[in-house]
Amino acid sequence: MSETSPEVKNLHVVDGPLSRHKLAVLRDERTRTADFRQAMKELALIMVAEATGNMPTRSVRIRTPLTETEVEEISGPVCLVPVLRAGLGMLDGALALLPTATVGFMGLQRDEETAQPIEYYVNLPRNLDEYLVLVLDPMLATGGSLSATIDKLKEEGATWISCLHAVAAVPGVERVTSEHPDVTFYAAAVDPELDDNSFIVPGLGDAGDRLYGTL
Ligand code: PRP
Repeated sequence: MSETSPEVKNLHVVDGPLSRHKLAVLRDERTRTADFRQAMKELALIMVAEATGNMPTRSVRIRTPLTETEVEEISGPVCLVPVLRAGLGMLDGALALLPTATVGFMGLQRDEETAQPIEYYVNLPRNLDEYLVLVLDPMLATGGSLSATIDKLKEEGATWISCLHAVAAVPGVERVTSEHPDVTFYAAAVDPELDDNSFIVPGLGDAGDRLYGTL
């Protein structure tokens, strides 16, 4: 179940028993790397099922074994864009539902002192304007990384963009939803605040470190 936030029109909270359960596993500090990775993959799958709900479709005429009929298909190729590193933790779950999707990469590292995103690797398909783009990043904290990602995608021509996050913090949500009213954002949870190091509270820690065991 996905509900539009009452305050923010372009934010949808993917909130049901299954997504809450996966999030509980992710938030728990006792969850070890392998289980964290598995829960992130499963949560991504649930979220992609929701976030494809507003994709445009087109009618095509086909034959069933019995007769000719009209069916609907998603009207454009899909490009998944994980934000490295942590976004990679959502990629397999997304590909499970969208196996023919193209994958582009945004390599960003948040400076630990300033929390500003530093770009270190970008690899996106040509003609991005033809794609329906789904950005994958478990964490939306200050919104700096996501804002830089969306700016880059728009620069490359993307016009249909949705972003998926396990946890989003209020300051980041306020920033990206107001800077990009034409983009749709999905989060399994919206957490109230950031600490002095710009970590989401209560959050789930550093998703990249927990996914790849670099604690
Ligand atoms: C984390 C996270 C986001 C970003 C969110 O990545 O995965 O990309 O920080 O923070 P922001 O909203 O304040 O920009 P990090 O820079 O820790 O890199 P990593 O995924 O390689 O661990």
